Amino acid sequence: MNHRNELGAYYQEHFKTGVGVEVGTQVGLNAEQILREWKGKLFCVDCWSQDSQYEESKARLGAERCIKGNSVKLLKPLKTIH
Ligand SMILES: C[S@@+](CC[C@H](N)C(=O)[O-])C[C@H]1O[C@@H](n2cnc3c(N)ncnc32)[C@H](O)[C@@H]1O
Repeated sequence: MNHRNELGAYYQEHFKTGVGVEVGTQVGLNAEQILREWKGKLFCVDCWSQDSQYEESKARLGAERCIKGNSVKLLKPLKTIH
């Protein structure tokens, strides 16, 4: 792999389905790129200190996959999602 834009295709080739978490989504551009290729279930975590970035991510990716909070504190609950 030469570029992170190839991550979605890589996941699709090697994992196909399953659950993944992106920590540090910001406005969702990287997650959007991954979801173009990967058919698994992606959750996106960010503390989103700027509401506008949280709103942009939800609009781009869907609110159901956007989990707002500190990834360290979310570690335990994240282990139970699938
Ligand atoms: C450089 S940006 C990510 C850019 C994005 N992945 C992309 O490629 O478009 C870093 C993001 O990580 C988030 N962040 C940093 N530490 C975090 C943590 N411990 N838990 C949740 N989010 C965190 C920040 O809020 C910020 O939005």
